[in-house]
Amino acid sequence: MSTYVQAIESQQQANEKAKQSTVLSPRFYTTDFNAMDRISVEAFRSEWDVMMREYEGDNNHDHFQRDEKFGPEAEAAMANLSPEMRQEFIDFLVGSLTSEFSGCILYNEIRKHVDNPDIKQLMTFMARDESRHAGFINQSLRDFNLGIDLGDLKRTKKYTFFKPKYIYYATYLSEKIGYARYITIFRQLEKHPEKRFHPIFRWFERWCNDEFRHGESFALIMRSNPSLLRGLNVWWIRFFLLAVYATMYVRDHTRPMLHEAMGLDSTAYDFQVFRVTNEITKQVFPVALDIENPAFKAGLDRLFEISQANDRAKEQGGLMGKLTQAVCGIKAVAAFTSLFFMPVLKQNISPEVRLAPTW
Ligand SMILES: [Fe+2]
Ligand SMILES: [Fe+2]
Repeated sequence: MSTYVQAIESQQQANEKAKQSTVLSPRFYTTDFNAMDRISVEAFRSEWDVMMREYEGDNNHDHFQRDEKFGPEAEAAMANLSPEMRQEFIDFLVGSLTSEFSGCILYNEIRKHVDNPDIKQLMTFMARDESRHAGFINQSLRDFNLGIDLGDLKRTKKYTFFKPKYIYYATYLSEKIGYARYITIFRQLEKHPEKRFHPIFRWFERWCNDEFRHGESFALIMRSNPSLLRGLNVWWIRFFLLAVYATMYVRDHTRPMLHEAMGLDSTAYDFQVFRVTNEITKQVFPVALDIENPAFKAGLDRLFEISQANDRAKEQGGLMGKLTQAVCGIKAVAAFTSLFFMPVLKQNISPEVRLAPTW
């Protein structure tokens, strides 16, 4: 089994990786703050207030601190990792940190630019959580002498503008899929503690409850504004579902050893995450992707193959390399389009919006 991740050997390379702006790398977002100011959550006021009290209670305020066992455990872990495995794990940490920090920046910017008290309060709490998450991962990267300069990242990484509704669809999904990813790993390592090759995984259970709650917040915002979930917007929901699922699938398949070390296989892991996420989205989305249709997996595998061919062409360089990359781009759009037009599953939105993280 070979690894496909780009090598990160120095702090400079780690920082460059975090700044990278490709189709697959986690992005930083900005949005229309005035439009966000006008959003109302009155339709679900009582649910909203209960959720705000949960944030205020801050049950994870003492969670993101490393205990005394962490140091020796992390050191032993690092000594045991093969060079390829080490690369995949670092790739995982840098990618996760960039996503966590992306949330932190977006929520903080919204907080600063809106007057709407509900949105301001929510963004304050979520930025607090994401900043803890990003900082906690960065501590583990520092153990490898690969700490990311978050201030510099914030100043220099490219920002993508998303209309508020795209922020709701995309962020809702990344929070819920983030929950599903962390809890699936946590449950697996709970069953197989001998496969827990790094102590950071011990933190995932309480951590993912934060992500779950962040997703709940966006679910309440969308349910309070039901036009976001009807008509042409359903096509946008389909688009974001596919973009988020496909990106995760391709990215995870570049790190086969990481999952194997946990006793998981990238495909089985991703499909478990899809199943959990599909189940959760019944709280808000009227459609779900038909993940059990064999054509769905075939399409994702095709996207992964194209992405691999594209990476090889990039390495090859020169005119041929450039041409091959262009062809890969066209093939990827075609593969994505045929996945996009696959029939979806209609689902009845559950009457209750709030869900408990019971996976
Ligand atoms: Fe987070
Ligand atoms: Fe989050």
